[in-house]
Amino acid sequence: MQIVMIGAGYVGLVSGACFSDFGHNVICVDKDEDRIAALRQARIPIFEPGLADLVERNVRAGRLSFTADASSAVPGADVVFLAVGTPSRRGDGFADLSFIYAAVREIVPLMAENGVIATKSTVPVGTGDEIERIVRELRPEASIAVVSNPEFLREGAAIDDFKRPDRIVIGTDDACARAVMGEVYRPLYLNAAPLVFVSRPTAEVIKYAANAFLATKITFINEIADLCEQVGANVSDVARGIGLDKRIGPKFLHAGPGYGGSCFPKDTLALVKSANDHGVAMRVVEAVVAVNDQRKRAMARKVVTACGGSVRGKRIAVLGLTFKPNTDDMREAPSLSIIRALQDGGAIVHAHDPEGESQARELLSDVTYFADAYSCAEGADAIVIVTEWEAFRALDLARLRTLLHTPVLVDLRNVYPPDEVKRHGFTYVGIGRPTDMAPYGQIDEGMGIAAE
Ligand code: UDX
Repeated sequence: MQIVMIGAGYVGLVSGACFSDFGHNVICVDKDEDRIAALRQARIPIFEPGLADLVERNVRAGRLSFTADASSAVPGADVVFLAVGTPSRRGDGFADLSFIYAAVREIVPLMAENGVIATKSTVPVGTGDEIERIVRELRPEASIAVVSNPEFLREGAAIDDFKRPDRIVIGTDDACARAVMGEVYRPLYLNAAPLVFVSRPTAEVIKYAANAFLATKITFINEIADLCEQVGANVSDVARGIGLDKRIGPKFLHAGPGYGGSCFPKDTLALVKSANDHGVAMRVVEAVVAVNDQRKRAMARKVVTACGGSVRGKRIAVLGLTFKPNTDDMREAPSLSIIRALQDGGAIVHAHDPEGESQARELLSDVTYFADAYSCAEGADAIVIVTEWEAFRALDLARLRTLLHTPVLVDLRNVYPPDEVKRHGFTYVGIGRPTDMAPYGQIDEGMGIAAE
């Protein structure tokens, strides 16, 4: 099959490389000439484990190529995937679809008579209808089909998620397009991935509903964690105790500093807005958005409390900046809110992240960066684990104890057993489990966090 991927960003690059690995011929198209030039030299602009090898292997095999010129790629394509960005529009939270529509207007005149457009970008319900309207306007005589094919890739595990998905959702009522999409995903049958054929709006809703549900699950367990702190219960055990119920399931019940990333914050907001547009109030999801936003900043209060009520003039060593491990992505990362709140309270912030430093430098000011956890911790009044990188799971606590000015460990991902940390002479504060410290409590809006 001949596949064209419009947008060589995160989703387009991973999907394109994986399709080519399955033997399809794939051309990735991106307007960004520098990005294309880099990719042609096998330089990958994002950090994703395994992606560089995958790209290199398939470029060498002649199945994967890159171009900035859609007109050279699109005419021969059986399927043109749209994998361009749909950021939150500044001000109103609606998904910004201008990249999608611009791409559609560019590719449709170039496409084969019976080509298929498949939207991978996350778009509000009804976007497929609007794309179809543009197609009919530009090519009234052609039988180009418009399909919704949402992705469910997690950053850091995207290649595995692509190759061994829980399901593949294909939204179209067009029989020919179903057959073509079935052929595109045929190599995945071997991995027993169910193909879920639904209508186009159904597929669009599935994507938003899946992300909103996962965000809700996380936010729910985070609130349960707050309760656990008040009553001396252990949220990890609660998560296990409820997760063994097959109707609930064990995943996405890890309490932490709140979800971040390029998807959950943007998609929950876009779901609320587009539902409102159709006269439907998404009150549960609205609450999730609000609770999660407050939570990120509220995590700073935990640090303040652990430091004896004030961080003014104190050095805080933050370990992990990215919104989760195995990515360099800083978008909506809890670390951003936490660090800014700590700085508002007068803290001097030291930080280390295995991959996120260069993005962090653009988003945060007055932070000193270190190459590893130990140099970061030197002379600090507290260590705060914000992201659970593997490298932070087996830190030498005895060594840290000697490096720190004050032995305080605030573990926002519950990486460490409290008893072990305390045995090394630390004050330990985790999430939703019995600790040394009083819980962080409520925070006023627009707070100066330190209660001085
Ligand atoms: C998510 C979805 O999982 C994926 O299907 C969708 O296509 C894109 O959005 P991603 O944003 O890469 O993927 O990350 P994910 O692993 O889902 O984590 C999102 C956030 O939730 C992270 O900040 C993570 O730390 C947090 N999280 C996740 C928790 O706090 N607790 C959990 O139990 C799980």
